[in-house]
Amino acid sequence: MSSDTQPIEDIDSGESMRVEFVLNGEQCLVEVPTSTILLTMLRRDLNLTGVRGSCERGVCGTCTVLVDDRPVASCSLFAFDVEGTTVETIEGQQDGDNLSPVQRAFSECGGFQCGYCTPGMIMLATALLRTNVKPDREEVRKWIASNICRCTGYEMILEAVERAGELAEASDGEDNS
Ligand code: FES
Ligand code: FES
Repeated sequence: MSSDTQPIEDIDSGESMRVEFVLNGEQCLVEVPTSTILLTMLRRDLNLTGVRGSCERGVCGTCTVLVDDRPVASCSLFAFDVEGTTVETIEGQQDGDNLSPVQRAFSECGGFQCGYCTPGMIMLATALLRTNVKPDREEVRKWIASNICRCTGYEMILEAVERAGELAEASDGEDNS
């Protein structure tokens, strides 16, 4: 995730605008005040409360979502920045009752304790594994460095990301057989 994110203010200017984008696979049209940040639009206007805010300054990564497959801090974009893009949140990762490989791996490996950072970590890991399904430990460590976890000591998160790669590879193999 980019580390050059800047804090932005969510102050209602009185003007609103329509934002159209694909959200978790569905076309979505929302009218929001122009100053609304993406984090607020997702939680307040779209009820996607799996997206968690914390520092709201682009530092902790807990609000990470994917925009056009790239992990971004949703507190560091305006809602209008996602016009015409594809946005994914934790709510879109599950297929019916089936958890995604990354969700399953975090559960299997105990990659969370309080769970507050988990949606952001899962979105971050999902982005990594889409570009590299077999990252080595050092690559995983560098990739997740943008997100803070105050509970796990990171070891189980590292294991979970590696395990997720194995599960994703196995499920791709099944899909192609
Ligand atoms: S809440 Fe967005 S980076 Fe911390
Ligand atoms: S599991 Fe508690 S902050 Fe990461």
